[in-house]
Amino acid sequence: MALPPAFLDEIKDQVSVSSIVGRKVKLTKKGREFLGLCPFHNEKTPSFTVNDEKGFYHCFGCGAHGNVINFLTDCEKMPFMEAVEHLASIAGLKMPENNRQNPVQDNRHKMLLDIMEKACLFFQKHLFSENGAQAREYLKSRGITGAVAKEFRLGYAPSGSKLVEFFKSQNIAFAPLKELGLIAPNNGRDGFHDYFYDRVMFPILDRRRRVIGFGGRLMHKGEPKYLNSPDTALFHKGEQLYALPNALETIRKSNSALIVEGYMDVIALHSAGFTSAVAPLGTAFTENQLQLLWKECDEPIICFDGDRAGRKASSRALLRALPLLSAGKSLQFIFLPDPFDPDDMIRKKSPEAFQEAITSAKSLFYAFWNMLLENRSVDTPERKAKLEQEATELIEKIKDERIRSYYLKAIKKELWQLEKEKKKKPLSFNDAQSILKPQKNSIEGRMLLSYLLCYPHIAQNFIEEIASVNLNEPMLQNIKEKLLERLFENPDINQEELEEAVFEDFDGLKLPEIEMLKKADKTQEEINNDILHWLHIYQIRSLQEECQNKVKEYNQTGNETLWREIQQIKQELASFSMPE
Ligand code: UTP
Ligand code: MN
Repeated sequence: MALPPAFLDEIKDQVSVSSIVGRKVKLTKKGREFLGLCPFHNEKTPSFTVNDEKGFYHCFGCGAHGNVINFLTDCEKMPFMEAVEHLASIAGLKMPENNRQNPVQDNRHKMLLDIMEKACLFFQKHLFSENGAQAREYLKSRGITGAVAKEFRLGYAPSGSKLVEFFKSQNIAFAPLKELGLIAPNNGRDGFHDYFYDRVMFPILDRRRRVIGFGGRLMHKGEPKYLNSPDTALFHKGEQLYALPNALETIRKSNSALIVEGYMDVIALHSAGFTSAVAPLGTAFTENQLQLLWKECDEPIICFDGDRAGRKASSRALLRALPLLSAGKSLQFIFLPDPFDPDDMIRKKSPEAFQEAITSAKSLFYAFWNMLLENRSVDTPERKAKLEQEATELIEKIKDERIRSYYLKAIKKELWQLEKEKKKKPLSFNDAQSILKPQKNSIEGRMLLSYLLCYPHIAQNFIEEIASVNLNEPMLQNIKEKLLERLFENPDINQEELEEAVFEDFDGLKLPEIEMLKKADKTQEEINNDILHWLHIYQIRSLQEECQNKVKEYNQTGNETLWREIQQIKQELASFSMPE
């Protein structure tokens, strides 16, 4: 029994060797490869390497070598069929119905790919022929160089059914051409005409750089602006991404990807050095495309157009991602100014402006909260309740329990923050600097610790933030650690017990802040607001410290990246409101 080679290739593309080997062997990343102790022979120093890009493992000690399927058959002694079924289920692929190799079907697949390749070469040739002059001019006007046109294999589809003639001269039957969406039957008379004509052609390649479809753009106003190949045996729009083979290496190396709306955006970004850009294929960004990118990186960045449609598409992508979120796997969002798309940003602004947009990409949670706040006022209890209800309903869609609970907590915090919003006034970097001189023993750390101790049940909503506060006195640091340990063991511990447990080791020590707080008799709302206030102060001070350190380093090194980071921090500081 044999399986179609295309199916086995698909499995090898979809399941990384390291993910399977990593279940049995502890692997550490070394450059492009992973290194570990060889499971095929006994060794004390690692000589076993895994290379996901090439799709194999290799042992320099014993010579063991193979792909992801071989690993299961050779190392885990799985029968071949079982190994393939196992990997197919990981990749979410259905086993082919008829497992027997079907040479007819296999040859047909090759024949279809061959036709697409021929069509691509045909369009490429025409772009650089006499009748491609206008198309070349058009590409030039859009800032595309000859080298980039070659890299993306751009072409020109001439008018006059030249492709039909070309394939006729090659004795290729019409049926497969029609099936591939390259030709279409004439209206009301016999014969066929070219599906794409007088358009600039963007071939769509699969990860092995085989042509599977086309997008074609009109060079003047008209409808449709872009015409795309229909879904075919080779081309599945919802499961493939434009420019994936060009972007894959950068995506893996940088653990990041840019998802943009259009062909031209991808090409402009790649030309400007942003080589992790890909785009969906004229349809919405799908779950399948997201899962595909999550196999290669943790938090792909959605960067759709700045117009209303683009923003809507971002929201839809966000909602689609919610149920699928898992530890470490999320999305980020760039919101470009209306009506810019990434291509405009690069050409009408600058690559630097786009880089800044990337650096300040927003988390999925941030985008989620902003989406909820959009176009509504939350100035009455009822409106607030409605907002909370909608937020909670959406969060319920998150399947991962842990993430769901963090989202609920974060939403609670944002709702509290809303209460404070009206009192905000802007703070410039210089203000912040003069108001908050860096101090050795900063008060905010002590205050946060005291609130946690006095009001553990309220302050637990902010426990991660308080835990990450850096206390520069060792004694306070000790108290904090003890406190967090106790709360972790027993989140329901009452205040007296907690205080006793924490201070038993500190022999009679009392913090004056705690005594003061206990007397203050604050309401739940006041406590929440106070905690937010001190966290705010802490955030500003940490940013200032970071900024000052960077300024010092920049003055010594003149490092360009540092300069950008400093501007970033300044901007962030400027956007902070000054708590009263
Ligand atoms: P846009 O209309 O935003 O075009 O469509 P664009 O990418 O900015 O293109 P230029 O800069 O005007 O050349 C975004 C994407 O939507 C799909 C295409 O994939 C396009 O790249 N689209 C758009 C179509 O499939 N058909 C259309 O008629 C329009
Ligand atoms: Mn555009």
